Amino acid sequence: MRDMRFASALFVVLSVAFSTADAQPPQCDPTKVIGPMRCAACHENEVRVWLQTPHAKTLEELHRRPEANAIAAKMGIRSIKRGDVCLDCHYTSQSVGDKNQIIAGVSCESCHGAALDWVTLHNDYGGPTVLKSQESAAHQEQRREISIANGMRNPTNVYLVARSCLQCHSVPNEKLVNVGGHGAGTLEFEMVSWSQGINRHNFLRTGNKNNAENSAEELRVMYVAGLMADLEFSTRAVAKATERGTYGLAVAQRAANVAVRLKAIQDQIKDPHLESALVAFSRAVLKTNNEAELTAIADEIQQAGTTFAQSTDGSKFAVLDTLIPVKSQYK
Ligand code: HEC
Ligand code: HEC
Ligand code: HEC
Ligand code: HEC
Repeated sequence: MRDMRFASALFVVLSVAFSTADAQPPQCDPTKVIGPMRCAACHENEVRVWLQTPHAKTLEELHRRPEANAIAAKMGIRSIKRGDVCLDCHYTSQSVGDKNQIIAGVSCESCHGAALDWVTLHNDYGGPTVLKSQESAAHQEQRREISIANGMRNPTNVYLVARSCLQCHSVPNEKLVNVGGHGAGTLEFEMVSWSQGINRHNFLRTGNKNNAENSAEELRVMYVAGLMADLEFSTRAVAKATERGTYGLAVAQRAANVAVRLKAIQDQIKDPHLESALVAFSRAVLKTNNEAELTAIADEIQQAGTTFAQSTDGSKFAVLDTLIPVKSQYK
């Protein structure tokens, strides 16, 4: 029955149009950005890997691409690096004096959160003289909680970082898509294959010996968490739809598709948090100008996704292994 509803919801999609408000994802607060070179002081290997990714390279490459300039022209933007539109997803900016300056492409803080308020907390084992080996498990947990409360998207809860990906890769900007002709989100995005190739930088867990691969259990949690974050942000993207057009149709279709995939997964794993997310989504009416309702539903999915990733280690989800992309599919 729920599948029917998703399908029929699509037919009522985008039937009304009222006023517009530009949708912008919450980019990092420039007053709290410290920049990737500060991370490099302690995370040299991670920075080395990141520098090879399209995320880092977009800084030097985007404004040189003819397609980028065509989008900017249609949007009435004179310079890609000035103004806020492209900044939201292609760059990191930092406040210097009373101005904001672009300092990098998509960088550490784009995914892990602007760091000013957490950088000195996230590695504090209990005072300057306490070593990692002396830290209690309770202190470690508390340290991670404090870092998260101060804005860190700590990957110990993979949902927090998956949210970062989908915040950009859902491209929640109607005008950019309908007027600018920008892609309507990365429709083929999938958390495992998109994070475990060029983007993987798991040096911490091996004490900088090598760039570790995740266990099958970890990949299962990441896979489901990625889809839940996709559902959350597709729903947020539909919430921003104000007119019948490429944008609204693409994001509504995306939300419906992800829900169908998650429903099939839920049939196999019967997880209470995934169930909450699907129940919340089953109330979603995917139509234009439905922002308040859809945002509230997305908030519920966010809550469910966060607790999902916190409360499972994936050991019971072996049944998902055939769905999870294999190495040759990693980006
Ligand atoms: C002064 C050194 C230092 C700086 C600067 C620093 N880190 Fe860390 N970071 C660490 C240490 C040490 C750990 C390991 C903490 C542990 O043992 O749990 C860590 C852990 C992490 C983790 C994993 C968190 C966890 O709980 O497992 C992330 C993500 C991270 N850092 C990101 C960053 C980013 C992004 C920056 C820059 C904005 C940064 N760090 C700056 C030292 C630093
Ligand atoms: C809401 C997030 C968002 C905003 C805002 C945004 N982009 Fe993008 N852009 C992306 C993402 C994510 C990709 C990754 C590729 C994909 O989705 O396939 C991308 C890819 C691109 C590409 C294609 C790169 C390729 O591989 O062919 C161009 C060109 C581009 N963006 C131009 C722009 C310009 C110009 C602006 C500002 C007017 C802009 N973008 C604003 C998210 C955004
Ligand atoms: C701040 C916005 C932003 C965030 C956060 C973000 N991305 Fe991206 N991503 C982009 C943009 C923009 C591009 C395209 C860059 C270009 O081609 O100029 C891109 C490109 C990519 C690519 C390369 C795609 C290709 O076809 O080569 C991969 C893979 C990717 N992102 C994965 C991820 C994953 C996984 C996460 C989360 C862990 C993530 N991204 C978070 C904006 C973002
Ligand atoms: C595109 C988003 C993205 C960017 C950019 C990014 N990270 Fe991460 N980071 C992640 C994700 C996702 C994970 C968890 C990956 C996993 O489990 O395979 C992670 C994990 C980590 C970890 C823990 C690794 C471990 O061994 O457990 C550290 C430390 C870290 N990142 C630091 C950084 C630093 C420093 C930068 C900048 C050079 C950075 N990250 C840039 C998404 C990102």
